Amino acid sequence: MLSFNLLIKMQIRQALKLSEQLHKVSESPQLDLELMLCHLLDKPSSYLFTWPDAELDSEIISQLEAMLERRLNGEPVAHIIGYRGFWSFDLEVSPHTLIPRPDTEVLVENALQLCQKQNARVADLGTGTGAIALALATEHPGWELVASDFVAEAAELAERNRKRLKLDNVAVVQGSWFEPHNGTYDMIVSNPPYIDPQDPHLQQGDVRFEPLSALTADQQGMADIEFISSHARNYLKSEGVLLFEHGYDQGELCRDLLKRLGYKEVDTAQDYGQNDRVTYGIWPGNRE
Ligand SMILES: C[S@@+](CC[C@H](N)C(=O)[O-])C[C@H]1O[C@@H](n2cnc3c(N)ncnc32)[C@H](O)[C@@H]1O
Repeated sequence: MLSFNLLIKMQIRQALKLSEQLHKVSESPQLDLELMLCHLLDKPSSYLFTWPDAELDSEIISQLEAMLERRLNGEPVAHIIGYRGFWSFDLEVSPHTLIPRPDTEVLVENALQLCQKQNARVADLGTGTGAIALALATEHPGWELVASDFVAEAAELAERNRKRLKLDNVAVVQGSWFEPHNGTYDMIVSNPPYIDPQDPHLQQGDVRFEPLSALTADQQGMADIEFISSHARNYLKSEGVLLFEHGYDQGELCRDLLKRLGYKEVDTAQDYGQNDRVTYGIWPGNRE
């Protein structure tokens, strides 16, 4: 039971101190507390530090108590408040797919560098919340994006995010990998499941609350990457780009795979922690 149970009044500065209780479950206890409080107050984080003496009413205090209980049980903050910031917007999240990660913004940055056309046709495979497709669509209103996921609830979630962000240049479709896709693309992007099903990290932290369908792939995490890389050759235009996220220790495997499949200019970009994270290659085109 939390210690502030019987309090009927509390200032913002006192509420912020409650983050101390989250140290055992979170690597970012202060941020977690700020996100929950901002959500309850419907204010930006600057409000908390501009008005530290403002008093919270009993309704807010009891809602904060309920949120802290959930966080202490390990539930991710994004699930508790219902959204996560990604790129330049907030995305609704749900337990049916991955909570977007900051490292995936590295994929978006590299995609924007690798395809600088004003008009391009781009596919996002395993779109989840729609994070990657929607970020690319905000940067390039002239691009046509097709975002797909085989989990119906994930495709519905991506569609809700698309509608709320009013991005008419994205079509969300449901189906397995290339099944719902037609025609050819200037670029294919994906953040597929890539964790080895035996990885002990799956039993720790926030990932315990995310579905295995979004996290794990057979062949030590490489099965979906191999499938996508092989079949993308039938869906890429000549000189089209394939770009995907992978595990920190899969960079060399991914580069070797793309070279073996005939892609050129294969390389890997590092994430904000300097780990291999995104590998890409150019498809030279199918010979007659
Ligand atoms: C690692 S999550 C990435 C979600 C989102 N793109 C992101 O970066 O936050 C992988 C996504 O791939 C989807 N997925 C898994 N297997 C799939 C398949 N066979 N076809 C299409 N999508 C699949 C999952 O449902 C999940 O939403």
